[in-house]
Amino acid sequence: MRFLAILTSFVSVCFVHAQHTSLNQVKQAFQAAKVAADTMIVFNPSILLDVAFPQAVGPAVKVRAGVQLPRNETAIPPTFSIVANGRQPRGEFVVAMVDLDAPTPQMPNISQFRHFLGGGFIPLKARDGLSLLSNSTPAVSEFFQPTPPAGSDPHRYVFLLYAQSKAFATQTIVDPTRSLEFFSISQFARDVGLGNPLGGTFMRVGPDPTA
Ligand SMILES: *[C@@H]1O[C@H](CO)[C@@H](O)[C@H](O)[C@H]1NC(C)=O
Ligand SMILES: *[C@@H]1O[C@H](CO)[C@@H](O)[C@H](O)[C@H]1NC(C)=O
Repeated sequence: MRFLAILTSFVSVCFVHAQHTSLNQVKQAFQAAKVAADTMIVFNPSILLDVAFPQAVGPAVKVRAGVQLPRNETAIPPTFSIVANGRQPRGEFVVAMVDLDAPTPQMPNISQFRHFLGGGFIPLKARDGLSLLSNSTPAVSEFFQPTPPAGSDPHRYVFLLYAQSKAFATQTIVDPTRSLEFFSISQFARDVGLGNPLGGTFMRVGPDPTA
């Protein structure tokens, strides 16, 4: 019994610690790659956002902040989850994905390029420490696979999680017919009152090796 109690407290200490360092790691990765500065956001995450790309075969590929993924692992729209850390998350969320480096990191003059924007995400009951964000409404801007042009260095693709605002549901700034280019997630967040992001992560993706 005592052993079990010690083991339990040890495990929970490790878990809290892991959670803490992970939020810090995400923040540090954002800083190291100038992601917050180039996105023009204030990034003080309180929620660990888990982004996973399902694969045709085998387990989904997770986006650890700053990881570089081969483009062909990013073909299927990703799933978004909140790391629950013992508490069931509540609320309604907006998720955005933007490319900061389009068409190239050296000349990103069509950036930001919008790769996803969706709202109405509700956290499902946490399983294995993850609360999957589920939505039943079409995205405002459906997932568009990373497609850096041939010869480009890898681009930074940023995922951001916001608490959904009232104004988001009735916004008319973004819809599926609008150009994906010249987007600004920080401007959009201001326009619809989303505040600062609660969480986020990013990945790097380069052109296909054959491109
Ligand atoms: C992606 O492409 C690489 C070769 O560039 C290949 O080895 C790998 O199996 C491919 N993965 C998927 C998920 O298609
Ligand atoms: C981006 O900048 C380059 C170099 O200044 C210019 O040649 C190109 O036309 C610009 N593209 C856009 C879409 O503004």
